[in-house]
Order: sequence, then C-alpha cells, then structure tokens
Amino acid sequence: MKKISVRASREYEVLIGSGLTEKAGELVKQVHAPCRTVIVSDSNVAPLWLDKVKVSLEKAGFTCSEYVFPAGEASKNTAELIKMVEFFAESGLTRTDLVVALGGGVTGDMAGFASAIFLRGIEFVQIPTTLLAMTDSSVGGKTAVDLEAGKNLCGAFHQPSLVICDTDTLSTLPAVEFSGGCAEVIKYGVIRDASLFEALEEGLLESDPAEVIARCVGIKRDVVEADEFDKGERQLLNFGHTAGHAIEKQSNFTLSHGQSVAMGMIIASLAVGKKEIAQRIAALEDKMGLPSACPYTAELLLPWCMSDKKKAGGSLTLVVPEKIGCCILKKIPAEEVLSFLERGLSR
Ligand SMILES: NC(=O)c1ccc[n+]([C@@H]2O[C@H](COP(=O)([O-])OP(=O)(O)OC[C@H]3O[C@@H](n4cnc5c(N)ncnc54)[C@H](O)[C@@H]3O)[C@@H](O)[C@H]2O)c1
Repeated sequence: MKKISVRASREYEVLIGSGLTEKAGELVKQVHAPCRTVIVSDSNVAPLWLDKVKVSLEKAGFTCSEYVFPAGEASKNTAELIKMVEFFAESGLTRTDLVVALGGGVTGDMAGFASAIFLRGIEFVQIPTTLLAMTDSSVGGKTAVDLEAGKNLCGAFHQPSLVICDTDTLSTLPAVEFSGGCAEVIKYGVIRDASLFEALEEGLLESDPAEVIARCVGIKRDVVEADEFDKGERQLLNFGHTAGHAIEKQSNFTLSHGQSVAMGMIIASLAVGKKEIAQRIAALEDKMGLPSACPYTAELLLPWCMSDKKKAGGSLTLVVPEKIGCCILKKIPAEEVLSFLERGLSR
C-alpha cells in the first residue's frame, strides 16, 4: 500500500493499493474512533462496492446507514444536497460522527459539501472509485454542488480525514470513464512531472496504476499545500480546462469532461506555439482512447470562455506549457482570447 501525507488546514493520508475496500474499517479506525456513519454512494457504485465497505466498517465497530442517490452530474444539485443532510439528521449523526463518500467525483464533492455544512462541519472520509476521483477530486478539499448558473458554484473548502483509493474498484469502471480520468493524469505530467509523462508514454498506467495514482496525488498534494485556497498556483491544475469547459458546454455535454479537457490541452499548447508538446500530448491521448481534435471554431468557443468563472476583471488567466513538466499562468486581456483560441485550433 502506498501512502501520501497531505498537510493542508487538516493533515491526512491518501492510501493507494489493491484490496483496500475490504480493509476500510481498520483503516478508518486509525483516524476516527468507531462511531455512527452514513455511507454516501450513487446508484451505480452502491450495488458494486457498498456492501464490502459496510461489512468492513461494521466489523471495526462502526454503526452504518446508507444513502444512495441517482448516479450522474444531474444529481449534484442543491435539492439532492438538502435530501442528503436531512438524511444525516434522521440517522442521528452528531458532530463527532462521520460521513463516508464512496464513489466518483460527484459523490465525493456532494458528500464532502454535505459534511462541511451539516452541524457546521463534521468529518468525512473519501473512498474514490473513479480514476478522476482518485487522482484529483478526492484530494485537496474542494467540495461543491452545481447551481443553475453553473458548475461547482455552491461549495466549501473541507478537507477529508482520510482518502482510501482501492485500485480494484477501477475494474468495474466503464472504459469511457476510465479514459476521461486519463486526461487528468496526462495533465499532471504536463504541468509538473516530465518523467511521469514519459512513463505514461511507456505504458506505466497499464502496468502499475497504483504508482501512477500515487504520483498524481503527490503532485496534487504539492500544489494544494502551496495554495490550498486557490489564489494562485492551484490554478495550474486548470491546464486544458478553460477551452475544455467551453468545448464541454458547446457540445451540450455530449463530449465528456475528460474528452473536452483532452482537446483543451492541445489548444492551450498550440496557442503558445508549442507544436511538439501538442503532438506528444495528442499521441498519448490517442493511446488512452481520448480525442485531441476539437470540432468547434474559435468563434463558437469564445462566449463560453468569457463566461468561465476563472475570468476576472476583463482578463482571463490561462495555463500554458513551457515544456513537458512545466506550465505557467498567463493572464491575457479579454480582447486577445479569440486570437488565442484561433492559434490553438490551427493544427
Ligand atoms: N473537488 C475537486 O477538486 C474536483 C476536481 C475535479 C473534478 N471534480 C468533480 O468531479 C465530478 C466528476 O467526477 P467523476 O468523473 O468521478 O464522475 P462521477 O462521480 O459521476 O462518476 C462517473 C460515472 O462512473 C460511475 N462509477 C464511479 N465509480 C465506478 C466504479 N468503480 N464502477 C462502476 N461505475 C462507477 C458513476 O456512477 C458515474 O456514472 C464533477 O462533478 C467535477 O466537477 C471535482
């Protein structure tokens, strides 16, 4: 089992390995005395993995209730959130009890936010079951639900007490969800770790997924420790996301987040003249089942980019590569965004 320590406003460990859902009870007991817990999961993950976690927690002395919501981003809203916290109250959770989030980023974000606001904050444990959630959303303490006005607009910083990544859960993950997570994995290589990128080119994700997850979590940890509250360096994690979000919205969400970010990384690279980097990213994306060519024009993407929440005061902060393993933040005036996109789309 690999172990990565995160020192943010709360200190916690991220555990990565095989067979960890069966050991969840013992692992959680090391950070929280047995208590009442609600295991939150979605309708796809619960039938596959909830029993294992529940049995293990009960064996370790925890008293468990289950809360299962309909799978998918459409559930990540304020109505579902309130149902969840009402359930916490009905289950008799007190301030010293615990929430366990078992699922992908939607489950972790929503259960994490519910834990942040219930009784003004109770502890929660993340058991991520998607590649994206293991490498990204379960670590760093960003929790949220979506509003009508946009994604993740209502949330809180609330760090988990423990993160347990059981690589066995990836065996049931649909291929399209796995490849979506690969986009974030590629992102880590480009923003911070050339040797990770090279290892991915050589097939490390296929041969040793736990090692790849650990290296991604290590990068996320470093970025979060340097800028927990997203005032500067944490924005590096948005590489490929400005154009990516625009593509996702322009496609009316028929292109997934991962597919859109994959295209967004190519746009951000070409826009600053890094053709060779774009070619290496595209080759890796192709190998991982991700598209790299964006089907939309700069004119179509522009309005979505300008409504992106990262826009501040008539300018846009973009993340662009200098070389594989090093990205920088580049602030550009609103009137230059169109030409940035045009350059990014000229292959
Ligand atoms: N908090 C953060 O820092 C952060 C970072 C990135 C993304 N996010 C959020 O994460 C969400 C996306 O996360 P996601 O891609 O994990 O989505 P998700 O939670 O919707 O999971 C994707 C799909 O896979 C299914 N699934 C999950 N694990 C499974 C398994 N092991 N076996 C079978 N099916 C499984 C789910 O039911 C769902 O249908 C978005 O809402 C995004 O905003 C948050």
